Amino acid sequence: MNKEFIDKSYEGNLSREDIIYALNLSDSDDINQLFSISNDIRKKYCGDAVHIRALLEISNICRRNCNYCGVRKDNTHVSRYKMEEEEIIEIALKLNADSFKTLVMQGGESEAFSPETLARIVRTIKEKTDMAVTFSLGEHSYDDYKLWKEAGVDRFLLRHETANKELYKYLHPDGILDTRIEALNNLKELGYQTGVGCMVESPTQTIEQMADDIEFIRDFKPHMVGIGPYIMHEDTPFKSEKNGTREMTLKMLALARIVTKDALLPSTTALASIAKDGQKEGLLTGCDVVMINFTPAKYKYFYEIYPNKKCMTEDPKNIVKKVTDMIHSIGRTVATDHGHSRKIKK
Ligand code: 5AD
Repeated sequence: MNKEFIDKSYEGNLSREDIIYALNLSDSDDINQLFSISNDIRKKYCGDAVHIRALLEISNICRRNCNYCGVRKDNTHVSRYKMEEEEIIEIALKLNADSFKTLVMQGGESEAFSPETLARIVRTIKEKTDMAVTFSLGEHSYDDYKLWKEAGVDRFLLRHETANKELYKYLHPDGILDTRIEALNNLKELGYQTGVGCMVESPTQTIEQMADDIEFIRDFKPHMVGIGPYIMHEDTPFKSEKNGTREMTLKMLALARIVTKDALLPSTTALASIAKDGQKEGLLTGCDVVMINFTPAKYKYFYEIYPNKKCMTEDPKNIVKKVTDMIHSIGRTVATDHGHSRKIKK
């Protein structure tokens, strides 16, 4: 591997040209070296602890028609649900009693819950637990983001999906990249720990467009980054497209680690869903977060954004045990703190 690239990686100082060089690596020794650099950087800036987040998919109702997503509005094959307010709170209390430190509330983009209802749920959770709360609920107005921040929401995940305007339009017939970025800027300005992220090898995506994502991640300086492979879903306009690969996803994770140094970087369920040891490989390639799905069984089958989602059949308690064992098997520990962004002092 090019010595200059190695030096620049350790400095976290990659140009577009360097990023494209890394994305094009094809020799397996070179690729493994890229992964080992990102693992070194993770160790230096993030330490060995892995943060386990509890995920709750609160509703699959969505107003958007993203061409890749199984819960897109026009998919009539899926039953729509919305969890009860009391149910969400009850699960939050249980998770807190089980020592989880972060609750991620994810859902389709909709008004299924009014902004006030969501604020009230968060206020209750914050009153009764010591958990951090992350929202992942799509694009909303500045005022709604402000209301939720004041209610106590700590973090917000809003993947940018792709930083290339044309590809963004192709993936999202009803969305515009600039609006997405404006929402991300609003979240950051309001003081959220803000998460961006993208799918890897979505239909028609080129290496140049993947480089756009890494440059965006480098320049936006997010607190968190979610990256997973694109996975084909039958009930979408992209039903004949190929899945993203393990190798390219790991390259993108490695580059995200290198350019952000200390961002919170989950080893995603999507990666675990396409590759047998995907989650472990992610952790060995710069990742420091794992999310475990606690959506009640009666709902989670309807939150099928892509097929064969890893969490569908197994009891989350078993998953926690397996993930904990896996983390220990690679010489890492499970974090006991909240795992807030290292960019802020809490
Ligand atoms: N394949 C992979 N990732 C998907 N997402 C949605 N649909 C798919 C799919 N078919 C991702 C998007 C979204 C996140 C919640 O899941 O990036 O932001």
